[in-house]
Amino acid sequence: MQSQIQQLNFEASESFARKMDEQDSLKHFREKFYIPKQSSGEDVLYFTGNSLGLQPKQTRDYVEQELKDWETLGVEGHFAAKNPWMPYHEILTEKMAKIVGAKPIETVVMNALTVNLHLLMISFYRPTSARYKIVIEAGAFPSDQYAVKSQLKFHGFDVEKSLIELTPREGETILRTEDILKSIEENADSIALILLGGVNYYTGQKFDFEKITKAGHKAGAVVGFDLAHAAGNVELKLHDWNADFAAWCTYKYLNSGPGGIGGVFVHERHSEKFDLPRLAGWWGHDKETRFLMDDEFVPIKGAEGWQLSNQPIFLLASLRASLDIFEEAGMKNMVEKSRKLTGYLEFLLNEIHDERISVITPSDENQTMSQAANPKSVENQSAAEKTSAPKKLSFKEKTRV
Ligand SMILES: Cc1ncc(COP(=O)(O)O)c(C=O)c1O
Repeated sequence: MQSQIQQLNFEASESFARKMDEQDSLKHFREKFYIPKQSSGEDVLYFTGNSLGLQPKQTRDYVEQELKDWETLGVEGHFAAKNPWMPYHEILTEKMAKIVGAKPIETVVMNALTVNLHLLMISFYRPTSARYKIVIEAGAFPSDQYAVKSQLKFHGFDVEKSLIELTPREGETILRTEDILKSIEENADSIALILLGGVNYYTGQKFDFEKITKAGHKAGAVVGFDLAHAAGNVELKLHDWNADFAAWCTYKYLNSGPGGIGGVFVHERHSEKFDLPRLAGWWGHDKETRFLMDDEFVPIKGAEGWQLSNQPIFLLASLRASLDIFEEAGMKNMVEKSRKLTGYLEFLLNEIHDERISVITPSDENQTMSQAANPKSVENQSAAEKTSAPKKLSFKEKTRV
């Protein structure tokens, strides 16, 4: 972050912060969200957007439109609703594709994150007796750990011998790219899948997607990313980086609401690999012939072919409200603002000069996100420390995951 951001000559003063706000070309977007109130009636300082994004004011209208169409049209809403339900998810495809740097054919919204990771691993984790290992980062989000361990067991492999957990060097908190690449090279013969959180949920470290993907492919492995903490947060170029697949949730940085629908990327080069094993359902079936009710599954080309069930329209409506905002604001502008905010937070934290606070999120703009994480374990602190020392901070902002 330091390079461009340092030139802003941050000052630890309210007047400086207010001046920055005035100059912010995105400031009016704040009005598009509901901000919870404190008991005093003032807006809360919301540091948990990485756990659950705030509600766009437009969400209610979009959801109510679907309730209204259901009320008045019943089943005809599939074709006659203002936004017909049959192709409703397609309204979101292009907007979502832009956010993750994908082509529309590579993107679909469906299900939820962990479900999607499993569906994609069914297709892309194809172990053999020689090549069966999965690489993840040590301390990956628990659901990711459970998912990969259960996949290993499902295929009959011993987790201890088959899971490679990338660990930072002694005394360090984040992974060095060179060490990740070395580990891939050293295990080149036996790695089947590399599955990393594109941005680590705890440290805020953004991985070098492109180098890791290249190294993984050179080793003969498949490379996928969990973008729960990256989608809508950092600039992504999944297509250009050549990742095989990715999955993400939309209730954090993408503000779709609790339990919101997930997103999926499958690289275009896999779009017509119909022989890839997959779990099939009727919504992944060719749209032209779906309602012929034939018993042979014909997958749709691209990511849509991984859909199983008909789409949850209320969840789509709710996500749509937020994606409209992303479209209007532009991902590039948002990333630029996020860098300033995170840079300023880091500057302020450093100004406090309190030994209980240290920032483990990398300062380097190529390796960071809207987060400044503090490694102190809350469990090991006194009651006074618990109330005064933040465990994690970020500028969307966070204390939970
Ligand atoms: C990195 C990561 N993976 C997986 C999950 C689980 O997501 P879900 O409950 O939507 O499957 C989360 C949720 O916070 C997450 O942050």
